[in-house]
Parts: sequence; C-alpha cells; structure tokens
Amino acid sequence: MTAAELVTITKPDDWHLHLRDEIALQTTVPATSRVFGRAIVMPNLRPPVTSVEMALNYRSRILKHEIPDSNFNPLMTLFLTDNLDPNEIVSLSNEESVVAVKYYPAGATTNSDTGVTNIKNVYPAIEKMAELGVPLLLHGEVTENQIDIFDREKVFIETILAPLIERYPDLKVILEHITTKDSVEFIESQSSRIAGTITIHHLLYNRNDMLVGGIKPHLYCLPVLKRNIHQSSLIRAALGGNPKFFLGTDSAPHARPEKETSCGCAGIFSSPAAIELYTQFFAEHNSLSRLEGFASFFGADFYGQPRNKEKITLERKSWRMPEQYQLGDVPTIPIMAGEIVNWQLKDSAEK
Ligand code: DOR
Ligand code: ZN
Repeated sequence: MTAAELVTITKPDDWHLHLRDEIALQTTVPATSRVFGRAIVMPNLRPPVTSVEMALNYRSRILKHEIPDSNFNPLMTLFLTDNLDPNEIVSLSNEESVVAVKYYPAGATTNSDTGVTNIKNVYPAIEKMAELGVPLLLHGEVTENQIDIFDREKVFIETILAPLIERYPDLKVILEHITTKDSVEFIESQSSRIAGTITIHHLLYNRNDMLVGGIKPHLYCLPVLKRNIHQSSLIRAALGGNPKFFLGTDSAPHARPEKETSCGCAGIFSSPAAIELYTQFFAEHNSLSRLEGFASFFGADFYGQPRNKEKITLERKSWRMPEQYQLGDVPTIPIMAGEIVNWQLKDSAEK
C-alpha cells in the first residue's frame, strides 16, 4: 500500500468572490466558509453595495450562513459609481470589515450598469483612497464597442491603468481575474503596490475549451477566456512564487436557465471545488510547495491582514463533482460538473 499523498497548508483566503444575496447565501456561504478563512466579497448586487452601511448589512446577512465554528471573515467592498462621495471612503477606512473599493467600467459585466462611465469622474474618490491606503480593485476591461472583446484587458492597461497609477503613486491596485500575458508582464514590471488575482478557471482553460466542438456556456466568464499563450503566462505567474499574484476565484454562480440561453450571462461557480482544483493544478505542475504562498500568504500580506493561523490538509483522493447545486430553488451548474476531481479536503464532512 502506498502512503496517502497529503499536503498541509495554512488556511487559504479567497481574494475575489461573488456570494450573491438572500437564499443563494445558503449555498454560496458554506461553499466558501468550509475552507477559506476570509473572502473579498464583490458588491455587484442589485442594487449595488454603494455605502458602508449597505456593506455592513450585507455582511450580517452573509454571516447567518457561515459553517458553525468556521470563523469565516467576509471582507466587504464598495461599488464605485460616478458619484460616490469621498466621505464614504473615510467611513470605510474606519471599519475593519470593509476593506476595498471595486471599479467596474459601466456595462462591463454582470450588474455593472451603474459602474464608472469615465475614470475622471471618480478621481476625488480615488484620491481619498490613495491618501487613506484603501485598495482599488479593478475589473480591467474597456467597454468601447469597437474594441475586440479579446483585446479589452490589454487596452484597459494601456489607456486606464497605466495613467491611473502614474497619477496616484501611492494608490494600491489589484487587477482582478487577470487573463492575459499583457497583465502578467505589466504587474511584474510595477512596484509592489500593484498585484493581480488569478482564478482557477483561467488557469485550467483557454478559449478552445469554450468554443471548439460547440459553445460551452458554463465556461463563459468575463474577462473571457483567451488563447493558450495567455493561459501559459498565467500558469507561469501562479506557479512562480511572485507575491504579486494570488488566489481569487471569482466564483460567480448564475441560474442554469440564464447560462443556457440565447444570450447567456458570464460567470463560473467554482467555490465548491476551488481549493481542491487549485491544489490539483499545483500538483500537476509539480509545484505543490508553491501552493501555500499563492493561496494563503500573498493576498493577506498585500491587504495588510494577518496570515491565518489554522491549517488545512488536502489529500489526493478522487471524488465526483455534482452535476448541479441548488441556489434555493434555482439549479446552478458548477465548474467541472460531473467530472472527477483528484484532490479533496481531508476529513471533510462534505464528501
Ligand atoms: O464572469 C464574471 N461573472 N465576471 C464578472 O466580472 C462578474 C461575474 C458575476 O458577477 O457574475
Ligand atoms: Zn468577479
């Protein structure tokens, strides 16, 4: 008999997550709090979370659903609109569980129609953030119709991000869910105040997986999957041990009928297997020793949060991902639905 293959790491955090609201929280919160210590919770609800008061109320709704004794700590964010009052940034900086502001270009993705229409409109808020050390989280895509969807991240870096960080040399910025070689190289070239999160789906898939042999709506996300040279660059960044790159799942459930339709929405629900799939990914690249930095240290360090104290252990042992989950009475298809996952949490009560 061979010894079990195990890996023990400090409890990880998810630095980019969509939990949704109301009945969906019954599913999404346990799926994350079973294993992640903290999560940066996205504010793109309807209506969006635009004040500290709304963020704190949302946080209490989330905490009603955490797994008992998990000590899950949801870290909240505010949704940046053209007219966010800079005083709201001051209130945020006095609240330890509201930690960042999220910039969505208007119309870039799910529930972002009230996002920013012109970066200049939010200079006063950004100036306050730079002054108070509040990180700006970016959905880094331009939305101009004439810009090809596969180029939108690259053009965002050139036309919005580079000038922004030059204008605010103290601003901390996270380019979220990066999908391109351009983003990897840009982040590498900058100072330590610029970081990027990487999803498991952008590490595992490229646009062929989504489009060859038929359109797979459950692999449609934003920013959209790119060609394999970009995937290779993300893989190199995640495995490389550079503290500027860390884990953010962007797990974003949608109702099955809204994905499987003539105009399907963007988002991949990955939290039920997120840490297992990241572990599998690092293991398959013979880089398990790099998992803990990426999943448990670098994000906390960047946000100025303490590293978690507890440990988790994953075991190389197969299980089958369920075909679907229920969000209340709404079916949702997870990442790798019905497929075999090779790693699981040891002593997990879930499986
Ligand atoms: O795929 C995505 N889904 N990308 C986003 O930026 C938003 C998210 C969602 O909220 O569904
Ligand atoms: Zn997101």
